[in-house]
Amino acid sequence: MEHVSMVFDRDGKSVPVLDDINLDVSEEEFICLVGPSGCGKSTLLNLMGGFLSPTSGSITIDGEAVHGPDPRRILVFQERGVFPWLTVAGNIGFGLSKLSRAEREERITHYVQLVRLQGFEQTYPSDLSGGMKQRLQVARALAVNPDILYLDEPFGALDSVTRLIMRGELLRIWQAERRTIIFVTHDIDEAVQLADRVVVLSSRPAKIENILTIDIPHPRNISSRRYLELRDDLLSKIGLAYTV
Ligand SMILES: Nc1ncnc2c1ncn2[C@@H]1O[C@H](COP(=O)(O)OP(=O)(O)OP(=O)(O)O)[C@@H](O)[C@H]1O
Ligand SMILES: [Mg+2]
Repeated sequence: MEHVSMVFDRDGKSVPVLDDINLDVSEEEFICLVGPSGCGKSTLLNLMGGFLSPTSGSITIDGEAVHGPDPRRILVFQERGVFPWLTVAGNIGFGLSKLSRAEREERITHYVQLVRLQGFEQTYPSDLSGGMKQRLQVARALAVNPDILYLDEPFGALDSVTRLIMRGELLRIWQAERRTIIFVTHDIDEAVQLADRVVVLSSRPAKIENILTIDIPHPRNISSRRYLELRDDLLSKIGLAYTV
């Protein structure tokens, strides 16, 4: 992203949301985006995913400008994300029409198990809890095997145990299959446990305030000295961001 700015028009008034965002993400990198509510994190993901166009600046992937959504890159939205007219199995299998029937069934079974929705394969989203819907969204995104995953607070509605399990699963998948992941979270521990780099945004209009490199190999020992140092460092950076 080079000099990316975004200004929305709301009832004739311009609302600046992102201000001169510059960020280079490497292939296979895990980036966490944090920042105060309403600062522009979801907007930034929507821009990267091609669902919105920036007011100014450019976004390129492998040297190619982003023009619109692309099946090689999947965005898991903060809200709205599952197709209500499809069952759990139908949602996970949605992007898999190119596979043979047997391969598709196998992939669906794998991801249903991964997100622990066994027994709900034929259930419609209206009969799932909020957390189950979130897990379904993540499964659907992973099942199509994208190069880049944009995840907007994907575990926000989960209880803390399920959240820990999903975090571990995401790390396992990321390590095994090496995707590029851009992950929005409000959870500092989540950021320090997952990210290669944590990008701290200021309040709206968001600028990049800090980028913190988490130089701890996985699996991370969350009581190690280095972990606690980095966590404190991030907290103080965010504390400042939140009070400005
Ligand atoms: N389509 C739109 N038109 C006008 N304003 C918008 C639009 N989308 C978002 N905004 C405004 O842009 C700002 C940033 O919104 P955004 O959803 O990106 O924030 P966020 O950082 O994801 O917040 P949260 O942490 O609460 O999810 C908000 O003030 C919001 O009202
Ligand atoms: Mg958001």
